[in-house]
Amino acid sequence: MTTDRLTQAREKLKRLGKISLGFYPTPFHKLERISEEFGINLWIKREDFSGASLFGGNKIRKLEYLLKEARDQGCDTVFTYGATQSNHVMQTCTAARRCGMRPVLYLGAIVEPRAGDVRANLLLDRILGAEVHILPSEGRSTKETMKANAEVFARHRAQLESEGHKVYDIPIGGSTPRGAAGFAEGYVELLEQLRDKGMTMDYLYTATGSCGTLAGLTAGRILAGDAHAVVRGMIVGKKDPATYAGDVARLANETLMLAGAEPQATPADFELASYTGPGYEKPYHEANDDIRYLARTEGIFTDPVYSGKAFHGMMDQIRKGMVRPGSTVVFLHTGGATALFSEPEIVGDLSSDMAGYPQNDIKTAPPSDSF
Ligand SMILES: Cc1ncc(COP(=O)(O)O)c(C=O)c1O
Repeated sequence: MTTDRLTQAREKLKRLGKISLGFYPTPFHKLERISEEFGINLWIKREDFSGASLFGGNKIRKLEYLLKEARDQGCDTVFTYGATQSNHVMQTCTAARRCGMRPVLYLGAIVEPRAGDVRANLLLDRILGAEVHILPSEGRSTKETMKANAEVFARHRAQLESEGHKVYDIPIGGSTPRGAAGFAEGYVELLEQLRDKGMTMDYLYTATGSCGTLAGLTAGRILAGDAHAVVRGMIVGKKDPATYAGDVARLANETLMLAGAEPQATPADFELASYTGPGYEKPYHEANDDIRYLARTEGIFTDPVYSGKAFHGMMDQIRKGMVRPGSTVVFLHTGGATALFSEPEIVGDLSSDMAGYPQNDIKTAPPSDSF
């Protein structure tokens, strides 16, 4: 991969047009202590620092492309969909507000919010003044809940449009070809950072949910002609890996076509492994152990729904020898740490298991004047 190829990839993506919502390039730094422990070069790319608010994450790159289209179409209202604790939804609200648009949310209650104790992303959605509609999930995935309610959304949009509003519709996760283009750009940005440090990357790890991030990275890798890195998506949702592989390759190809390039992505362009644990938004004990491990070795927070499970997947593969000794590994931190402050059903033993923390026992704590 050459600088020319990176410039050409950027040119192609630039033609799609975007607005600026985040701070890029996102920070990219080495995790010294884990690298030393495992005999690898482990780096982290901080998409958690992408946003205009404290609570950024991977959706901001997608929204730069999506809301450009919304603005060009003269939209004043943005509809989007997700779980009640969706990061995508919350980031869409921040982006819509910055563009002077009104966010309307349809949220599937995989975990029921508690009246009088609204938490984490749902709390932020409310502070942002979004119009929030909560739908019972009844054991269905968010996608299934949204499919079952498609007519309700269509009626609502039609009513607003009959009143003179213009609605821009963003599907779950912002994972359309335009949204995924944000991560094609993210991949090019990462290659530029590696080039500037005189490094090459052997493995890239990311969380995979609605597939737009991995599809965009795959499109970016093809646009940039980077044949070297192995890109690994750590699945955090319910579907089986074969379904994800088809979805990611299809979306990567739609993204490539949108950027005026050949649709040449196949499932051989990335690897997938499931680290969902007991389920989406369900605590995964081993992943929570690795959330604590990352915090205690490097002082970095990940979340129990996405980035913590993905980090755990990467560590599991490193521990199992699926990463060559001495190689350069990049973990894409996709954000989401707000979920650390969500309902106990999501946070699990991170909040309930105090074993090994005698210092947290009030009776044995030193008197305050000894600090
Ligand atoms: C924190 C976080 N990481 C990763 C993902 C997965 O990204 P994608 O839906 O593009 O696969 C999401 C999606 O909502 C997320 O919120």
